[in-house]
Amino acid sequence: MTTFVLFGGTGDLAKRKIIPALYSAFVNGRLDQDFKFIGAAREKLTDEEFRVRVAAAIESYAANVDGATEEKRAAFLATTHYSKIDARIPEDFAALKSGLQTSETNATLFYLATGPDIFIPVVEQLSKHGLVEGNARVVVEKPLGRDAQSAKEINQSLRSYLNENQIYRIDHYLGKEMVQNLLALRFANSFLEPLWNRKWIQDVQISISEQVGVESRGDFYDHTGALRDMVQNHLLQLVSIVAMEPPVNANPDAIRDEKVKVLRALHKFTPDEVSKKTVRGQYRAGAVDGKPVIAYQNEPGVPPSSRTETFVAIRAEIDNWRWAGVPFYLRTGKRMASRSAEITINFKPIPYSIFGKSQGPLRSNRLVISLQPEESVQLYMKAKEPGEGIRLSDVALNLDFAEVSNSRRVESYERLLLDAMHGDLTLFVRDDELSAAWAWIDPIMSAWQNDSEGLKSYISGSWGPSAASYLLAQHGAAWGEEFVES
Ligand code: BG6
Repeated sequence: MTTFVLFGGTGDLAKRKIIPALYSAFVNGRLDQDFKFIGAAREKLTDEEFRVRVAAAIESYAANVDGATEEKRAAFLATTHYSKIDARIPEDFAALKSGLQTSETNATLFYLATGPDIFIPVVEQLSKHGLVEGNARVVVEKPLGRDAQSAKEINQSLRSYLNENQIYRIDHYLGKEMVQNLLALRFANSFLEPLWNRKWIQDVQISISEQVGVESRGDFYDHTGALRDMVQNHLLQLVSIVAMEPPVNANPDAIRDEKVKVLRALHKFTPDEVSKKTVRGQYRAGAVDGKPVIAYQNEPGVPPSSRTETFVAIRAEIDNWRWAGVPFYLRTGKRMASRSAEITINFKPIPYSIFGKSQGPLRSNRLVISLQPEESVQLYMKAKEPGEGIRLSDVALNLDFAEVSNSRRVESYERLLLDAMHGDLTLFVRDDELSAAWAWIDPIMSAWQNDSEGLKSYISGSWGPSAASYLLAQHGAAWGEEFVES
């Protein structure tokens, strides 16, 4: 793979994530000698003007990439070109094609970091100009659709121009180090598997909390909401990896075959279940890390009367033999108390305590897989405190990846871009996974639309609406940060 064409090349995602990821791969010698980067967008820019923007993106978001030198930065900029492209103007694609031919490219990766409304027009033009034949691959960013029906239409259109194995639906959570490590943890160790089921697991909690608000994306976000922005994709992908059966091998389709079975087994809610098992909230003004922040309804681009959710908590269930009866508590929100992404497996309590009542109720064992800010796996167990008598306390066997390995950290976008360049689909979402995820989301979305009372508010800098705590408390459970040690 030698040519990378980035549609939406002047956009926010390009600047913050994709260009820094490409640059890091380049600096670390992970790209071909004859690699060529073409930014494409509607604006009229020369190569030189685009390079100035690329240099600014590097300065802001990739200045500290390991191994970066002034020479490497200059060499990267020398690979960079620009092509003005309007999805509605076929001549623009003809010009792009001639640029690709002169570089004698034999394989091209097209990355569509644009709004979903122009995915199909772009792919159609690429196809008409003979640009998606052979080795060409197309990466598409989320959101892929607004519901099951629109996702189906997008998939069908994409498939009319491309083979499924040319389509790389990106979910950047799949590129996070610990998500891959979860596969290793589950399928390269023997001791967990006998415990990894409803006999030994009380509940599973997957929580992604963010401190940021909607930043400059108010208009987009207000039409999307947390359910579509985070749950439909990132959270459900994590659920599928935690809950999947062992695949027959590590090939992309073997893994995706097992993930999609989990998504299909998710129990679909009736409207009544939606009101009992889901909580949605929107942030009010408050303070995050001691700094005052405005309410969601006052964010630029957001209507003051908006009813869009910025927080979601769900008690999901998986209807299969392994997981029947085990709640999967899912939670995500913006403007929360801290930034973290964690999967917690809470094991069942011991059947009876021989240590007597003086020790109080014993919190059961738990395995905490932390994706960010740290990458770690912690197994909490009870042990005796040193000293006289028996006093039990919680101790963690702590596997901190920053400490155990000093190999270069690879950001998720870099990992996924390189995988797409090498034709590895494992960490990309297949069309049937996408459909199954939407099929579970749709009933929640429509029940919410018919229930104008259900949106709660929460103070920025908190852990979300109190209803989210009640969702668990009524079943004797609590979110990690709420658990009070006895
Ligand atoms: C994106 C969402 O997919 O993920 C954003 O659109 C969110 O709203 C982001 O902020 C979170 O990603 P990360 O990697 O920072 O947890």
